[in-house]
Amino acid sequence: MTSDDHTHDRTEEHSGETPSEQSTNAERVDDEPELDSSDTQETPQPRADGAGEDGGGGQPGTSDAHEGELDEASKDEQLEEVRENPSGEELTTDHGVKVSDTDNSLKASERGPTLMEDFHFREKMTQFDHESIPERVVHARGTGAHGYFQPYEDPDLGEYDDIADVTKAKVLTNPDQKTPVFVRFSTVVGSRGSSDTVRDVRGFATKFYTEDGNWDLVGNNMPPFFIQDAMEFPDLVHAIKPEPDNAIPQASAAHDTFWDFASLKPEITHMVMWVLSGRALPRAYRMMQGFGVHTFRLINDDGESVFVKFHWTPKLGTHQLVWDETTKLWGKDSDFNRKGLYDVIEEGYDPEWELGVQLFDEEQAEEFDFDVLDPTKIVPETEVPVRPIGKLVLNETPDNFFAETEQVAFHPGNVVPGIDFSNDPLLQGRLFSYQDTQLNRFGSANWDEIPINRPLAERHNNQRAGFMRQEINEGKASYKPNSIGDDDPQEVPEEEGGYEHYNEKIDGKKIRNRSESFQEHFDQARLFWNSMSEPEKQNIVDAAHFELGKVDRMEIRERMVYDLFNNVDHEFATRVAEGIGVEPPDSPGDEMPDHDREDPSLSMENRTPDTIETRKIAILLDDGFEDDHVSELESALEDEGARVKIISKYLGEKSGANGETVEADQHHVAAASVSFDAVVIPGGSESVDTLTQQGDPKHFVAEAFKHYKPIAALGAGTELLEEVELPDIDIAGDGDGTVTSEGVVTSRDGNDLDAFAEAFVDAIAQHRHWGRSPEEVPA
Ligand code: HEM
Repeated sequence: MTSDDHTHDRTEEHSGETPSEQSTNAERVDDEPELDSSDTQETPQPRADGAGEDGGGGQPGTSDAHEGELDEASKDEQLEEVRENPSGEELTTDHGVKVSDTDNSLKASERGPTLMEDFHFREKMTQFDHESIPERVVHARGTGAHGYFQPYEDPDLGEYDDIADVTKAKVLTNPDQKTPVFVRFSTVVGSRGSSDTVRDVRGFATKFYTEDGNWDLVGNNMPPFFIQDAMEFPDLVHAIKPEPDNAIPQASAAHDTFWDFASLKPEITHMVMWVLSGRALPRAYRMMQGFGVHTFRLINDDGESVFVKFHWTPKLGTHQLVWDETTKLWGKDSDFNRKGLYDVIEEGYDPEWELGVQLFDEEQAEEFDFDVLDPTKIVPETEVPVRPIGKLVLNETPDNFFAETEQVAFHPGNVVPGIDFSNDPLLQGRLFSYQDTQLNRFGSANWDEIPINRPLAERHNNQRAGFMRQEINEGKASYKPNSIGDDDPQEVPEEEGGYEHYNEKIDGKKIRNRSESFQEHFDQARLFWNSMSEPEKQNIVDAAHFELGKVDRMEIRERMVYDLFNNVDHEFATRVAEGIGVEPPDSPGDEMPDHDREDPSLSMENRTPDTIETRKIAILLDDGFEDDHVSELESALEDEGARVKIISKYLGEKSGANGETVEADQHHVAAASVSFDAVVIPGGSESVDTLTQQGDPKHFVAEAFKHYKPIAALGAGTELLEEVELPDIDIAGDGDGTVTSEGVVTSRDGNDLDAFAEAFVDAIAQHRHWGRSPEEVPA
């Protein structure tokens, strides 16, 4: 479906009109409505109780506040009020004057100077000159989508897991309610135009437009954080951003200043392990976990509180790219993750995550050997299991990137009754920072009035003015207490929905220091290392070789090895040291924890569900391909939810050996193996002969092999694999049937296509085949 179709569908859904009816009904100037002085965009109705009818302060609500029950479509309906569609319309100025010529400026004679009075030129140019706004200071590059959140049945319990005993937040407890959301995924370090597939943390920010106001869960795809106190955040960001003298490198931690900072901050060790792992190279936003990071509080109707950690778990599994692949994607498909999210939603796959909570009370928290207020720590799932409570579904792409994805503004301070903060000193600092930074980005405290940021819940208060104020607040009294407007708007007692913070008892001296309970830095870094499979460990070591290999100063590399990594695991430190010219340490560091604990939930290999939904599969062919190989495999893969593309030397129609034709979706100039999850070479000797004479298909296969991706070949297609020489791989011979060897699925005779397709689907579901030794493959 094209994006135009998409828009029409949605509009149709809401108005019940066909697209053609809508364009006839749109405000066309031919059927100009007669204007009279009482025409307004929307006429507020008097309140049912009569209050405010005298204009004395009360009013029915913000003009676009959602009335009645909120549902999945509510935000879309609210946005519909500000959507503009130029289709079939006449060109006008911003002020509604019809324009006769938008190509030629007004001049004093044909070849004379431009005239100041050309209001259309001035307006067009001024708008253009002011099109950009400051990019986010961090998380500048991102992409977003609309969807909904719904509390749901716990598949393990077989019933709805009601957590109303621990929270009064309706958004988390009403299974009949689909709350609209907008989610923005992002990289952290790079500027707005940087590549998607850099080694970095990913932001996972969700704005829930709940009936009780907006709740922003502004999280990341990794559960710990780099630092413990918000005071350190500007230093962290200055260290990791491009160096200030030459603005190099873009979107990368691989330079002296970041590792200088890291090597002097042992609290960073746990997070650095995650950043060196495949978690920092997500295959897709839809294949990425999300975490609230901090410990938050839930509060119930009785004012009691438990601690909570929030987890998003993707239905499609948690998968990574490999480093060589990411660097190639920077050039060949630099919008890889942005495009990936957009395409799957437009194609009708709706990515889904499960929201889970880890709940624990103060007594349990006391018993952990770490402080739950320390954001460099996780609560291991071996200690507190994750309890699934609902699902997030993303099902609409934005209509306009700037208006929605760029202007959406998150703030961890946006919470609703039933959800509260903990004293995590990083979280506490964030509560100041986000409101403050939005003032810089939007130049006004009225950023909450921008349509994408507006709550669906009604808003009434005494805020009135400021740059770009949208609301027209009626009445004289904009203060409290007042008698002129019946003292409206009224405060709301807690029992009726007024927000109340948890009544925590605090007793202590003002102090500027770091708690003793925040001083241990290596235990969970070691837990993470222990929990990795060997290929995952190798990925971490390789990443450290790259990152620290880019560090010029030897003393920084040494500190990383001796002071940090050697306190995580001696073997790890030794393996890293060997690759970066540092003398390997003789013995483990003094602070290395003495434990072999593992948490299976930390390894991505344990997060590989049996599905190939949304994976992209390339079929390489040319004229003379074996018709049934292509048609049967294509339908078998598509039946499992995969997306199949035909790739050939040139675009256009390709003829099969038995007369069927297919259309090439992409040609080798534009298609690269790095954009796909798996590749197939169907049989047909003429097709395979042509492919074998070209470098591109062989490179495609060799590169897919190097990146551990599933590969399949049928009939004569197996000859191409032999030509490429895949090391230590068994290729099927005559009469062998289907042979699977480290994710390479082959059949020489190509007779049993069902069994072949099944073996290939299994290989794709495993995502990557780490048992290969692709080092010698030249790709
Ligand atoms: C004291 C620590 C932190 C400070 C001061 C801070 C500050 C900021 C700032 C200024 C922005 C730009 C916001 C904008 O212009 O719209 C931002 C964005 C963001 N931050 Fe933080 N941050 C901190 C820690 C964290 C942590 C721990 C997380 C994850 C739990 C996080 C997740 C995000 C995300 C996801 C965004 C992007 C939101 C979007 O998509 O617009 N930040 N942060």
